[in-house]
This record gives sequence, C-alpha cells and structure tokens, in this order.
Amino acid sequence: MIDTFLSSKLEIIEGLTQSASTISPKYFYDTKGSALFERITHLAEYYPTRIEQEIMATHAAAIAANIGTGCTLIELGAGNCQKARVLCELIAPARFVAVDISEEFLHEAVNALRSALPAIDIRAVAADLNTQIALPADLPLQQRLVFYPGSSIGNFDPAQAQALLKRTRGLLGMDGALLMGVDLHKDLAVLDAAYNDAVGVTAAFNLNVLNHVNRLIGSDFDLRQWQHLAFFNETESRIEMHLVAATDTLVRWSGGQRSFTRGERIHTENSYKYRVEDFLALLARSGFSRTQVWSDERSWFAVILARP
Ligand SMILES: C[S@@+](CC[C@H](N)C(=O)[O-])C[C@H]1O[C@@H](n2cnc3c(N)ncnc32)[C@H](O)[C@@H]1O
Repeated sequence: MIDTFLSSKLEIIEGLTQSASTISPKYFYDTKGSALFERITHLAEYYPTRIEQEIMATHAAAIAANIGTGCTLIELGAGNCQKARVLCELIAPARFVAVDISEEFLHEAVNALRSALPAIDIRAVAADLNTQIALPADLPLQQRLVFYPGSSIGNFDPAQAQALLKRTRGLLGMDGALLMGVDLHKDLAVLDAAYNDAVGVTAAFNLNVLNHVNRLIGSDFDLRQWQHLAFFNETESRIEMHLVAATDTLVRWSGGQRSFTRGERIHTENSYKYRVEDFLALLARSGFSRTQVWSDERSWFAVILARP
C-alpha cells in the first residue's frame, strides 16, 4: 500500500514536471471521480454506455450461446458493476471477479452486487491494469471470461493497449475468452458533444483529477484556475482531454513546484476511436484470433468476443 502510494506520487510528479505536463487518466478515479463518471454514463450526449447496452441487449442470445454458463467472469475496470450485473443475469457465471483501481467505490459496488446475486461467488480485486494483475489464487484457469466494457481500452495508446491485451491473454487458458466494448470512429460533432456535455459533468470529472492529485502529492492546485478542454485529434484518432491554466499559476508540493503560464495545458486523457478492422488487427497482434463482432446500425460502437 505504501509502495503504491509512493509510486503514484513519483509518477504524478514526473508527469507534472515534464515540459508538456500530463496526469494519467487512472487518477480520475477517486471515489468522487467514480461517482462523476457514473453521472457521465447517464448524459444524453454520452452515447457509449447507451449504445453498448443496446448492442448487448439486441445480441444477448448470441452472446449467451457463445459463452455458455458457469464460467469465471473477470471484469477489468468494473466501476459500479452495473454492466457485469446484466451479464451475470445473462450467462450465470459460477464466480465473478471485479477488478478496479478505485478501491472504495469498488468495494461498495461489489457489496451491492453480492446482495443482488447471492448465488454467485463475487470477489473484488483492487489493482492497476498497467501492471500484472494478481487474481485470487484459488480461481480456476478453465472457462474464464474477461469482460472489458466501456471502451476503456481507448484510454491506452496503441502500444500500451497491445501490452494490456497480451497480459489479458495471459490470464486465460485456451478455452477462455475476452468480451469487450470498443468505441468506433464517427462523426466529429457526436464525439465532440460526448466529451463536452452541456451541464458540465465531464468538465467536473476532468477538474476533479486535481483534487485527487492534491491529496496524493500534497499539492495546492486551485481548481478555479483551470478549465476543461476536450477535442478530437484526427491524426491520432483520439479524443484528448486537457486542463488549461486560466491564468499564470504556481503549483507547489512538498519538495517541488511547477509554474504554468496562462493557456498552458495538462494532458489528462486520450480516448482512442477505432475502425473495426484496426481493432481486430490489434487483437491478433495480442494473441487473439477467433473473433466475433456485434455492432449497432450506425456502427458507432462494437462489442467484440475474442478467443486465444
Ligand atoms: C470509463 S470507466 C468504465 C466503467 C465501467 N466498466 C463501464 O463500462 O461503465 C473506467 C473504469 O476503469 C477503472 N480504471 C481506470 N484506470 C484503471 C487502471 N489503470 N487500473 C484499474 N482500473 C482502472 C476506473 O476506476 C473505472 O471504474
């Protein structure tokens, strides 16, 4: 725990003190950040959650037939476990392991799920997906299904995504499978609105990272001096989120400081948007070959089942 705290602190300070400042998107998710993300999923502009749920509902029978019952379901970045709950009702797994970095929020979600689904053995694993995940030692290797919805894979650049998918492949035996949601390339106005909602929940989510950083490194970021910025970077095929300094400002923490000039940015998130064929190629490079793709009629989002 102390090691994790120290390495987070070092990672954040290293990101902040680069000439182009960054904060990893994993620091969005303190308890308040997780709750703000949950609000984002209910916004009219935020299509990914809604469309992914529609695809899963439309193709529920085919998904269930492909997976079968009694598996060990492992969700990466489980959040409030709502999607897992629907999937559990569909495929009746023997056990469910929810993995997430937002520990307190995860435990609350898992406790609620245990009450709702008492027949399933449900565990919580607080872990960072950037590292090798230690699953409970008594988990059978056979018949594992890794569920990675919400296009969270888009937060990793292509090299990191490949490394994460390879590590995921390592969690599976030959009879295992990966079921994931992937956000697709689409009309710019739709993308832009999804990350710049009218009521400002995404802005609050983006700014909240500074509160979390203040607690983790003891810095004195003043949220009133920062503004949310999100736009689509066509060349990289990704939404970028930044925080922009509204004024010249000096941020201090114990043992260091960083001055920002007005207009200077801290890059807080990427959300890559894929073309299906490119994502299938990424899966193939990561050790998954047998794939099945379900999508919506506008091809905004894809749910992909992949096997080693
Ligand atoms: C975009 S939300 C998706 C939540 C939920 N799975 C869904 O689809 O609505 C990303 C989730 O992954 C978790 N997360 C983000 N970065 C992570 C990391 N590096 N390791 C583990 N979990 C992470 C967050 O806490 C959050 O619950």
